[in-house]
Amino acid sequence: MLTTTAIDRTAIVDWFRRNRQRSAALFDMIDPAAYYSRPISLRNPIVFYEGHLPSFSVLAFLRRGLGRPSVDARLEKLFERGIDPDSEAVAIPRSGASTIWPSRSEVLAFARACDDAMLEAIADFTLTPEAIEGLHTALEHEAMHQETLLYMWHRLPYEQKRRPAPGELHPTSDARVSRSVAEPPASVAIPAGKAVLGSSRSSVVFGWDNEFDEHEVLVPTFKIDAFAVTNAQYLEFLNAGGYASRPLWDNEGWEWVQAQHVQHPAFWLPADHGSPATDHGPRMTDASRWSWRGMFESLPLPADWPVYVSQAEAAAYARWKGRRLMTEAEWHRAAKGATAGHADFAGFDPIPVGSHPETASVHGVQDLIGNGWEWTSTVFGPFDGFAAMRSYPEYSADFFDGRHYVMKGASPATARELIRPSFRNWFRSNYPYVYAKFRTVGA
Ligand SMILES: [Fe+2]
Repeated sequence: MLTTTAIDRTAIVDWFRRNRQRSAALFDMIDPAAYYSRPISLRNPIVFYEGHLPSFSVLAFLRRGLGRPSVDARLEKLFERGIDPDSEAVAIPRSGASTIWPSRSEVLAFARACDDAMLEAIADFTLTPEAIEGLHTALEHEAMHQETLLYMWHRLPYEQKRRPAPGELHPTSDARVSRSVAEPPASVAIPAGKAVLGSSRSSVVFGWDNEFDEHEVLVPTFKIDAFAVTNAQYLEFLNAGGYASRPLWDNEGWEWVQAQHVQHPAFWLPADHGSPATDHGPRMTDASRWSWRGMFESLPLPADWPVYVSQAEAAAYARWKGRRLMTEAEWHRAAKGATAGHADFAGFDPIPVGSHPETASVHGVQDLIGNGWEWTSTVFGPFDGFAAMRSYPEYSADFFDGRHYVMKGASPATARELIRPSFRNWFRSNYPYVYAKFRTVGA
């Protein structure tokens, strides 16, 4: 990291307050009756996260960064571990929630005490590299959780959440750009050349451990879809029997599809769900057979929105097309000159592909930073020079298991502070709840 001698404390305080206000707004979206539920079975119940965010900030900045004591050692222990169990089989036993989790008022009082201690420390801490790292770890950690909270909220029944008032998350309005379905994706040729991955420790104030060191990768020429694959295009794969075609899936993907009876993206719902059937009901192959599971309502399947799918589904579609997913290095090549589009809480759902042509890369590839993360075929691993960070040593290292794949770019729920070329996100190939799109690549 830079041997920084000065940071803008006012800007840091603004970021901290913005983070805390947004987190509060996110938890306020939830019906109190759902507070102890687990919208995604492998994740902790909602109550955990409201305590985890302030608790982790204390751990990373005050304790590990500054060597100061706990605010509340008992609650910090309870709220420390946010890592997903690997499978249902080893999931934390579902307690009766109220038996081990505190009341919401106790969680909020704890959070206020943590926030006060954080603000006090930000105002006057001594600028050491450890302290600066711990502070940024705390801030970026909270912003990342805000996105994964929204993945969870997306799974909640509509009656258990409410749309925040305008400005509460400071999103722009949900853009419903009305235009025809995108043209079939043009394939853009990207010339052979060097991609620069990662960051240099001497050039940035903060980066996560997995972003170092900076290095170049020579990437051969390739052709990439100018637009992400849309719901309409993915429907063709589904109707062609893609979910039942063994050769399109790798072993782990096939195991998942079979075991979980996966037959459609997790963001799609059968359109007749909850409505009476009609004599001349929609044929199975029609788009009208499906609805989009929006954050606050279900919608007729938007043909020109990017399809949000797991990496396994994305890879199966690409194989069906005789193509493949891009590598992490190819993303860097294709995204040269791209800027952020539908991101930073601009909305709760995607918008049509190609809605922000002004953000396209110099090659004309659209939406590489925004409107959904981009799946890659790259297994998440350390760059040469990787060293686990003091403020959060398990952040990346726990996931170097060969079973997580890199995502690049940003989604509508990715805070602007996290949007930078070297930022890497990752998930298991069979995790279907992320705001992640994809496109195909070939020769
Ligand atoms: Fe966490």
